[in-house]
Amino acid sequence: MTTSDLDAGAGERYGVALGGTAPRLGHVNAVLAAQLAHRSVRAYLPDPLPDTVVPTLVAAAQSAATSSNLQLWSVIAVRDADRRARLARLAGGQAHIARAPLLLVWLADLARARRIAQARRGDTEGGDLVESALVAFVDAALAAQNAALAAESLGLGTVYIGALRNHPVEVAAELALPPHVVAAFGLVVGHPDPAVAAAVKPRLPQEVVLHHETYDLERQDGPVAAYDDVIGAFYAAEGLPGRWVDRVADRFGSVAGLRGRDRLRAALRERGFPLR
Ligand SMILES: Cc1cc2nc3c(=O)[nH]c(=O)nc-3n(C[C@H](O)[C@H](O)[C@H](O)COP(=O)(O)O)c2cc1C
Repeated sequence: MTTSDLDAGAGERYGVALGGTAPRLGHVNAVLAAQLAHRSVRAYLPDPLPDTVVPTLVAAAQSAATSSNLQLWSVIAVRDADRRARLARLAGGQAHIARAPLLLVWLADLARARRIAQARRGDTEGGDLVESALVAFVDAALAAQNAALAAESLGLGTVYIGALRNHPVEVAAELALPPHVVAAFGLVVGHPDPAVAAAVKPRLPQEVVLHHETYDLERQDGPVAAYDDVIGAFYAAEGLPGRWVDRVADRFGSVAGLRGRDRLRAALRERGFPLR
């Protein structure tokens, strides 16, 4: 692998062919190449995965940093086709959940730590805090991303499923989750369908997300507008309508498109996350 290979990866990541600008990367290795090549995959072959895949991905996940080594996350490997079909329905009918052989459901898990605290201290009030919930969701996300990159390094495809939060209570029932455990998101894993190419989706230019020393919001307007043209060209090439800024505005301008996720606080409380 050469620096020009990696610059090509950065070129795709920042949509250089569509008018974007990429930084020159001064380092080259297989991990960076895999990270730059990430793309969500939504078309899968139904072929099963070797039995070794799940323990390999979970070892990668458990190798992520975890706040205070509390390890406030768990994961459920869902292979059963009927259960995947039911979860696909709960996630707004996303066909890739039913089609791919594996759905990993990443859990924010306060139950294990609460059980330990209850047994040793007779109290669990620290587990009621927003801070504990945040730690659990962050831990779950870090673990999942390690697993996602590991899967991609094995030539597998992945796509996250935030839509599992559309119906948190029903998802919890489907997975027999105890109180104080909630599904943060899913991760579909499978063999990408070679007939359906998934493209690398350009990201915001670095000057938007990277600040030096202090934060500057107004400075972002110009490069955000430039990115809107780049990602607009990408969407058009993919046959997707609309502009990125309108997608952002739709999502933040009203709660209509959230499909129930605007009621997450109540659902979390019901699941035993009081968020004090
Ligand atoms: C937490 C999370 C939840 C997501 N939920 C969904 C989902 O429910 N369905 C889906 O098709 N993609 C989902 N995605 C994938 C994003 O749409 C995707 O990562 C984003 O558009 C960038 O595209 P890329 O991953 O191909 O670079 C999710 C991604 C994340 C990180």
